[in-house]
Amino acid sequence: MNFLPLIEAKRDGRALTESQIKEIIAASTAGGIPDYQMAAFLMAVYFRGLNAAETAALTTAMRDSGEVLRFPEDSRPLVDKHSTGGIGDKVSLPLAPLLACLGFRLPMIYGRGLGITGGTLDKLDSIPGFKTALPTERIIEIVQSVGCVICGQTARMVPADKSLYALRDVTATVPSIPLIVASILSKKLAESIEALVLDVKFGVAAFMPTLEKARELAQAMVALGNQCGVNTRALITNMDTPLGRAAGNWLEVKEAVACLEPVPARSADSQDPLSDLRELVLACAAQLLIQTGKVETVEAARARAEECLASGKPRQKWDEMILAQGTTLPEFNRKLALSHAAPIVSELRSPERGYVSRCDARLIGEVIRDLGGGRMTRDSAINYDVGLDLEAKPGESVDANSLLARVHAANPTQAEDAIARLKGAFHVSPKPPAHRSLISEIILPEGENE
Ligand code: URA
Repeated sequence: MNFLPLIEAKRDGRALTESQIKEIIAASTAGGIPDYQMAAFLMAVYFRGLNAAETAALTTAMRDSGEVLRFPEDSRPLVDKHSTGGIGDKVSLPLAPLLACLGFRLPMIYGRGLGITGGTLDKLDSIPGFKTALPTERIIEIVQSVGCVICGQTARMVPADKSLYALRDVTATVPSIPLIVASILSKKLAESIEALVLDVKFGVAAFMPTLEKARELAQAMVALGNQCGVNTRALITNMDTPLGRAAGNWLEVKEAVACLEPVPARSADSQDPLSDLRELVLACAAQLLIQTGKVETVEAARARAEECLASGKPRQKWDEMILAQGTTLPEFNRKLALSHAAPIVSELRSPERGYVSRCDARLIGEVIRDLGGGRMTRDSAINYDVGLDLEAKPGESVDANSLLARVHAANPTQAEDAIARLKGAFHVSPKPPAHRSLISEIILPEGENE
């Protein structure tokens, strides 16, 4: 293939045809385009963009570069959720068993974290014996029998994205909306799902820093997802503060399990410590109930999801899922019963009385990464047990010397360093901060309204 004229066309801002894009992806997947030419092409796309037809062609060509999962006919709809990632975002873990109990099938194919953003597979790898690498046949078997599986892409799925993403990562071309849309949706389309709910985050620790940028990405993904035959909606959610109370792989698994336990009765003035996590889990479930026509209104969908979560059945489904993916329950329960799996736990206390007005998710993510809980490069090893428990979150009142957070670390020096840095992540003010909604907007396909 003579790739040069296509690079020139994109460099000059001309649109490529569907067949040209198919040819590029086929040649690139077969190793027929040198990296230096593909890198130049990606940079041209970064600056010139792709129109909707080009993005659609790129997405479907990438999906078709490898194996597409095929499931037996079944009345349970195949659905998934995708998040653009943030700190403490463990929504998929409780959502999978909840949705399986609500009558869905979930082939949740996810990735690992890089930098400060945690990856779902890394969280699951903290569970003793849990297998995230499964062959296609086993993925299908577990989806059919349990209802949900959470695992990594097989070697045969969307190979075009693997090579392109690796090149984007080292050529500063990751933050291009059409390339992000094609990368994410090609992988979701390869799951053969009928509905998808997206959680597009904005804020200090998000891929998209502003609400406007998150909206632009969400609108592009919703439009293209629907164009490709997947009923797609997006929630736009805030990522200035970590989600939930735990950040760090194993601590997040523990919190996900706690989220699946029936909520204990609470007095009127005591707040659910996992309210933001539950809100997002239930919102994603409610959207999918509506998207698949199981329930008509948001109120009814939310009530159905809430009732199911409170029944305790999703907690049992979680055990079924981890058992199917290689874990033995006594081993899991033994780890779950530990107050901490990391050797050192240190406390960060409030310097004064007042209200927590900031709890900076970016700084917290950086601290966890540097504790060994995240990766600097794709090959870095991870310490699954380090992380943070947040005792106080924005809007909550604290006394002088109240506990703000616990650091779980591998050794005392790391813990000390983390505590020193975390002092800059928390602000305590005399007045409560203005309330910020977790979910800012819901992006529906054009022409649809709630
Ligand atoms: N996640 C992906 O899978 N691809 C991107 O391009 C960005 C985030």
